[in-house]
Amino acid sequence: MRILAIETSCDETGIALLEANGTKQSPRFRVLANVVSSQIKVHRPFGGVVPNLAKREHQKNLIPALVRALRDAGLLRSGRTSKGKDQKLNEIFDHEPELLQYFQKEIPNIAPPKIDAIAVTYGPGLAPALWTGVNFAKALALIWKKPLIPVNHLAGHIYVNLLKGEKISFPALALIVSGGHTELVLMKGHNRYQIIGETRDDAAGEAFDKVAKLMELGYPGGPIISRLAESGDESRIPFPSPMIGSRDFDFSFSGLKTAVLYKLHGTRPTEKTKQDVSASFQKAVVDVLVAKTLRAAREYNARTVILGGGVAANKLLREELTKAVKNLSGIQLLLPSIAETTDNALMIAVASYFENKKIRPAGALSLRADPGLRLGR
Ligand code: KG4
Ligand code: ZN
Repeated sequence: MRILAIETSCDETGIALLEANGTKQSPRFRVLANVVSSQIKVHRPFGGVVPNLAKREHQKNLIPALVRALRDAGLLRSGRTSKGKDQKLNEIFDHEPELLQYFQKEIPNIAPPKIDAIAVTYGPGLAPALWTGVNFAKALALIWKKPLIPVNHLAGHIYVNLLKGEKISFPALALIVSGGHTELVLMKGHNRYQIIGETRDDAAGEAFDKVAKLMELGYPGGPIISRLAESGDESRIPFPSPMIGSRDFDFSFSGLKTAVLYKLHGTRPTEKTKQDVSASFQKAVVDVLVAKTLRAAREYNARTVILGGGVAANKLLREELTKAVKNLSGIQLLLPSIAETTDNALMIAVASYFENKKIRPAGALSLRADPGLRLGR
């Protein structure tokens, strides 16, 4: 089965082509193409992702990314796709006129590629960004007569861990840490999710971004803070690890951000202070993430612990989680490779292989983006 996947939930435009074979229990994947067009430069001056700018960039980037991915995969053939669907296309791209123009100019000259399905992120994420990718997928499904597989972005962050043939022994516990989410998810089987804990305010990645902003370090903050932390003293400032002792599996990071604000209050931090604040803050976040993941793994008798999301690139988190899981015998840990922690369409392609929902080409128009989509619903 060959899958074309589309990801536009936030600030990366992703198109991937994946060949998948075998059963869900024992799948084999071969990456044919993985194109990610990052918008970080566009959003950087604003210190965060601006939804309408993201939408504009996705409209601009989707078709060039698709063409490059098809070419990388050796699936790009010139040809003609019958028109006569213009009315439907107008309907689909009602709110994306720029993409409609590119679509009408480029897509009819591409022969329908040899793919079996189109997978697309339909939530959670930024509404204007999600809709752009969803509408693009619908239009391709209609024109090329391919089924659609709607994928939850967070399932992508979990399932990218299986790209190289890894297997999940259930029950599994996934820690998803990104710019928008911090969730502990119990999985009793493929595609069976139960959120057992989540953040009550800021997400872990968001906390990194906000603390970086407080010290005027730039965007996105996670990579910058973790780099500064390497030269810092993590015991210099005793930031509290919020909710580390609470009996539930929830998180809270906004108080920690306020503690950093108070610490810096009225001063221009020296380089040394920036390093020490970064190291101390990072330690407080990692300690609580690892402690709660471990306690949940024990309580639910997890056989696999899975890490996913942008913050999974954090070196200290990877090291501490590895150490902690090693101490629990018989549990395997799945860590994504660093390159696959940031948003991409490959993760959506892998997750789609485990997804049971499929929309026939004729029903493609019914798919809607769902910005508040939750796992397990
Ligand atoms: O999953 P992702 O690419 O996008 C969302 O779905 O949100 O995650 C982006 C988040 C940002 O908040 C970024 O600061 C954070 O991941 N991040 C990191 C690191 N690299 C990226 N946080 C901590 N340490 C890192 N090395
Ligand atoms: Zn993400």
